[in-house]
Amino acid sequence: MKELSSFFPEIHQIPDEFNLSNTVIKDKILLNGEMVSFTGDYENVISPVMIKSNGNYENKLIGYAPLMNSEQALDALKSAKAAYNRGQGVWPTMKIENRIEHIEKFLAKFISIRAVTVNLLMWEIGKSFEDSCKEFDRTVEYIKDTIEALKVLDRQSSRFEIKDSIFAQIRRAPLGVVLCMGPFNYPINETFTLMIPALIMGNVVIFKPPKHGVLLYKAILESFAETLPPGVVNSVAGNGPTVISPLLQSGDIDVLAFIGSSKVGNILKKQHPKPNRLRCVLGLDAKNPAIILPDADIDLAVQEVLTGSLTFNGQRCTALKIIFVHNAIEKEFNQKLANAISNLKIGMPWEKGVKITPLPEKDKSNFLNSVLEDAKSKGSKVLNENGGTYFGSLYYPALISPVSQDAELFNIEQFGPLVPVHPFEDMLEPVEHLINSPFGQQVSLFSSDPGKLSEMIDFLVNQYCRVNINSQCQRGPDTFPFSGRKDSAEGTLSVSDALRVFSIRTLVAAKYNDLNKKIVTEITHNRSSNFLSTDFIL
Ligand code: G3H
Repeated sequence: MKELSSFFPEIHQIPDEFNLSNTVIKDKILLNGEMVSFTGDYENVISPVMIKSNGNYENKLIGYAPLMNSEQALDALKSAKAAYNRGQGVWPTMKIENRIEHIEKFLAKFISIRAVTVNLLMWEIGKSFEDSCKEFDRTVEYIKDTIEALKVLDRQSSRFEIKDSIFAQIRRAPLGVVLCMGPFNYPINETFTLMIPALIMGNVVIFKPPKHGVLLYKAILESFAETLPPGVVNSVAGNGPTVISPLLQSGDIDVLAFIGSSKVGNILKKQHPKPNRLRCVLGLDAKNPAIILPDADIDLAVQEVLTGSLTFNGQRCTALKIIFVHNAIEKEFNQKLANAISNLKIGMPWEKGVKITPLPEKDKSNFLNSVLEDAKSKGSKVLNENGGTYFGSLYYPALISPVSQDAELFNIEQFGPLVPVHPFEDMLEPVEHLINSPFGQQVSLFSSDPGKLSEMIDFLVNQYCRVNINSQCQRGPDTFPFSGRKDSAEGTLSVSDALRVFSIRTLVAAKYNDLNKKIVTEITHNRSSNFLSTDFIL
């Protein structure tokens, strides 16, 4: 393999279509429905891509992002509260079909900014062009599916129910001000899986972009400003404790929608003065295991573990992060997996077919190296050629075995291209680990024996929220429920579940008598209420 440094380009080697000629300055924030100029400090936004110049390598500076202070963050809250207006605002009281029209207008704008957004996504987080396009397009589908799911939900609610001489119309109503924060690995998709359902159900949103993936929100926020009523979406940016703490401490946040670490999730929740009034929708840490039994189809298992553990350099919450392999097949499995890893293309995100790309987190290579060294000091070996070598932000994936239970790598969420294997003889060992693990998102089982699989499925469904058979762990398709037990999540997301998560069942009810019948009939005939309505969305 070439020296890792040689994968980084000189500026003139970047293909024209992907070149960022000017630095992007995110000098506006979305407040009260307008993109307003930001005055204050800025931070440099640098790309994980390093540029070679005169023998030196430096991360490319791609722009500047605002570092708000607490007062500026509280302005966003003021704007959001004014738009919600204690439930009397234009947005929370709007007819659902009109809200849908606004979101459709936003969607059209969003689709029109695909090229610029995908390019920045690639530069900001180092995701391959191919996967950046996929993330964008998956988000478009998510928005379309959400609109359809809401129509279905609304149609089911467009009738009255009668029981015990009481008739009622039961719908879902918004919750209030939602604070939305997505992760850097899917800065658009995961943020939108929170923000779009929150908005379409009538909530207002304060949005903070992830630590990487800030500049790409410039055009997205402009699109929100042009298509939604004032104050419905507001942005904050900067350092978490400075901008997020005052928002939560105000007690005026009704929903915390956060995807990140459980450590930060716990800190955030505790800051709300009235925790009973805070609904939390959280996607947190995961250490999804694969268990490969002696009768597994080894080639299939290798393929699934390869994509499951190394897609986007292992930076997926759903990635396979610990691989239990039975002693009887360990040698063959490891050999085949090591070969498969050496066939992964390494390079810059714009290169066709590239799989291993630069990592966006500061000092990530050093962190991965220290975890790898710790495992080696406890008896592990790197099994693939060049595994664990690195230069700057480019880290060559390492297959490591045997990783002992006392190694850091066995227990932490590495969120990077390290594939730890733990061989086992007795099934009780991985089972014990799964039961005691603090995480509970997903698990992958590899076996050809329906009997053994059934036995494991029946207890694993009480430890994890998705059991995958001879398949890698993954969130998609987005219509499937995505959740986690223990420290992995709070609440369930999917296209339809998210509509429920960001709303509350609310009803208008009346005793069945002539007066009430007359009143309700008049209201529905005159269409004078947006909530109490039998209109059917076609
Ligand atoms: O990082 C978590 C993402 O939601 C993973 O999504 O499993 O469909 O790639 P995915």
